[in-house]
Amino acid sequence: MIAAVTVAAPPSSHVYPIGTRVNERGRLEIGGCDAVELAREFGTPAYVVAEDDLRDRAQAFVEALAQRHADYDVLFASKAFPCTAVYRVLAEEGLACDVASGGELALALRGGFEAARIYFHGNAKSADELRQALGAGVGHVVLDSFDEIDRLTEIAAELGRRQEVLIRVTPGIAGDTHHAISTGQADSKFGFSVEAARQAIVRLANVPELALVGLHFHIGSQLFELEPFRDAVRTIASLGEFPVYNLGGGLGVAYTASQSPPAVGEYVSTMVDAVHDLLGPDKRLLLEPGRALVANSTVTLYTVQTVKRNVSTWVAVDGGMSDNLRPMLYGAVYEAIIADRVLAPATERCQVAGKHCESGDVIVRDAPLPEPAPGDVLATPATGAYGYSLANNYNGVPRPPVVFCRDGEARLVVRRESYEDLAARDI
Ligand code: LLP
Repeated sequence: MIAAVTVAAPPSSHVYPIGTRVNERGRLEIGGCDAVELAREFGTPAYVVAEDDLRDRAQAFVEALAQRHADYDVLFASKAFPCTAVYRVLAEEGLACDVASGGELALALRGGFEAARIYFHGNAKSADELRQALGAGVGHVVLDSFDEIDRLTEIAAELGRRQEVLIRVTPGIAGDTHHAISTGQADSKFGFSVEAARQAIVRLANVPELALVGLHFHIGSQLFELEPFRDAVRTIASLGEFPVYNLGGGLGVAYTASQSPPAVGEYVSTMVDAVHDLLGPDKRLLLEPGRALVANSTVTLYTVQTVKRNVSTWVAVDGGMSDNLRPMLYGAVYEAIIADRVLAPATERCQVAGKHCESGDVIVRDAPLPEPAPGDVLATPATGAYGYSLANNYNGVPRPPVVFCRDGEARLVVRRESYEDLAARDI
């Protein structure tokens, strides 16, 4: 028997979930489960999540903070993977939660988060959503506009509540990332500019229904540079002193072997140092990671349907932009491997395309693959963040199931959508 080897480049171990291996049969193994057998059992496409990876990353954030700072909380930015089972795991790991809509709020509660530890975000919260949030008893609403201050004041008065709030500040600092996921720049649809935040702070002093406890910023997503975070802390430090500071999310992850984002510990240290230096050691520090908690936990499995040798070799699979929109929206780059012969030498560079009626429906460009053929199970790693949440039914394609794997046991936590589901809302 050939000894199992840890996945090495390619595929690179830091892109795959913790514990991923190539098993004795030369196949990809996630959470102790053989990927080819998973594909057989649950069908493809499927999101396969290594549950231990989710738990380990949550613990890494908590432990890194616990080592450096007394009063903290880690919030799961749940837009990254708003699936009940994921909420449940991260609630069990002791995290708090960021929701950005009434729907995410409902899911977070269903997944077991205490309302008091939920932070309600959003740049266009409706009156209904604010009523739902206050009705549920969410701990904090993160205010995003003057209109929202008026709306929330009325609703809090109507419900006889005094609601704790943070102000989202747009610090005028943009991280180096795709423009669609950069949020900290001065001209943003999110939050209050520094000057507007100053006015909001003054205004809130005269609103007894709302208790301003702190400030929030989120400067962008998939960031590899940590310096902008410190600059953003410096900016909000100029707005006065508050007990709570939420520094948002944004830590980047590796989608491919060549990418090396900062480690969680390094990121947390930078945040803690900035807060200690610029705000003081006694503040309540909140971090709000989404992607860095969930992205690398998940591998999407597809089945190759056709291989077409044109100018390029086109390897078409049974999913695509309905289960992973990120390459199309942000030019995001992914890797691919063939799950039953992980270590076989690549024979050609392939364009891994989806099944959708658009030329842009290409999941991985220039993937080196070993003689791909119809029927092969193809795996793309690092699909845990914003894959499930951006999934859609383009071309009437049912959305994939979510399968959790742990210690060799696989369990279905979200079933595949059916054709009946596609028509479920018809009247
Ligand atoms: N906090 C707030 C207020 C946010 O808006 C976000 C993400 C986060 C935290 C979490 O950021 P993360 O740690 O995941 O970078 N669909 C895009 C990403 C959009 C991010 C939106 N906000 C993508 O697939 O790259």
